[in-house]
Amino acid sequence: MEREVWNSKIGFLLAATGSAMGLGNVWRFPYITGANGGAAFVLIYFIIVFSIGVPVMLAEFAVGRSSKLNAVGAFKKLKGGKWPVVGWIGIIAGFIILSYYSVIAGWTIKYFISSFTGLISPNVNTTTYFNQFTSNGLQNIFFQAIFILITIYVVYLGVEKGIETWSKILMPILILILLLLVIRGVSLPGAPDGIRFYLNPNFSEVTGRTILAALGQAFFSLSLGMGAMITYGSYIPKEISLPKSAFIVTFLDMLLALLAGFVIFPTAFTFGIEPGAGTGLIFITLPSIFALMPFGQIWSALFFLLLFIAALTSAIGLLEVSVAYVKDERNWSRKKAALALGTTAFIIGVPSALSNGTISLNLFGMQFLDAMDYLSSNILLPLGGIFVTLFVGWVIKDTALKEINLEGKFKFEKSWIWICRTIAPISIFLIFLAGIGLL
Ligand code: PFF
Repeated sequence: MEREVWNSKIGFLLAATGSAMGLGNVWRFPYITGANGGAAFVLIYFIIVFSIGVPVMLAEFAVGRSSKLNAVGAFKKLKGGKWPVVGWIGIIAGFIILSYYSVIAGWTIKYFISSFTGLISPNVNTTTYFNQFTSNGLQNIFFQAIFILITIYVVYLGVEKGIETWSKILMPILILILLLLVIRGVSLPGAPDGIRFYLNPNFSEVTGRTILAALGQAFFSLSLGMGAMITYGSYIPKEISLPKSAFIVTFLDMLLALLAGFVIFPTAFTFGIEPGAGTGLIFITLPSIFALMPFGQIWSALFFLLLFIAALTSAIGLLEVSVAYVKDERNWSRKKAALALGTTAFIIGVPSALSNGTISLNLFGMQFLDAMDYLSSNILLPLGGIFVTLFVGWVIKDTALKEINLEGKFKFEKSWIWICRTIAPISIFLIFLAGIGLL
């Protein structure tokens, strides 16, 4: 059977951007920034995104398009030996991420509905509201299940009809709404304090853990280190420039995260909400700002609807990685693969759905959901990143160079190979050691 390809250049770019832009930008970036002290973290994050993120994304696109295969199959075809293990790390990381990602995505469905049923009011204490909801295990599992079912359905529809069509119109609308919220946010009384926290760095609090958190956030947000961009890259037609695509996707992804911060921190400082409040940060701050706006219920509903869609385009990417694997390598049908793997991710996600107050489930001294997030983003994804760059830099250098130059010479090809060979893997490794306290 002929391999599926993206229907158009813009379709691919929007789908890859759709995979990158998701809860990672609007939910995870503000709360991780809040928990890591603010501005200094943001600066380190940007440096990492451009110096490591872009080269790793380009490396993944090159592996994907030159092999036209899934994350495991690509390594098998291009070199074989032990290399396919790298693809496996990706598949496992993707599963873990999807399991808790769907819990948070389920919250967006709940908040969409609640926008009309009492959440948006100056009399509501949004922290209490959030805590009450998240400690209701049954509701959490219910919304998580709905989210996974929708994800399964879209993946089942296939690359072009499902993923591409959905991503096209909706992402720009989300950016527009965020811009509007930024205007409201920066005119709040707490805005100066919020913006100072967000943009005025204090390096005295930076530790190895902060830098590892920034690295993990970069990998998570750009969907790197887990074969997603290898898989999406495998569907890219030959006439699309890979280096340009890597830049565009990264730039848009960063823009969305940056905007989210301009809404969240002014709001947090205005309403006396701790910026380090944890996973609930946006669910606590945003309803407070909506309550102050005319037609707040409608804005709230629209916002959570779009966030849900952003989460969906990312979850599709997460599930597609393992679906592509069983489809290519084990000849499963798309339908069977989407159903079986989606259901498995749901089951693995149940402890995460319950760990926010229903039961006390801790791992490595964190709540279960946070522990899964830490394990996948800060450990497995960077590990995937180390091996992908080493693979491109040392094992398939010539193939990779040919692949990225197909549409015209890439000016920075030498620097890119150099980064893949040494700078990226070494710095990821050092950050990793520093982050777990070994350096
Ligand atoms: N990048 C997505 C986000 O920021 O929400 C999360 C993600 C999607 C990670 C797809 C990995 C992936 F394959």
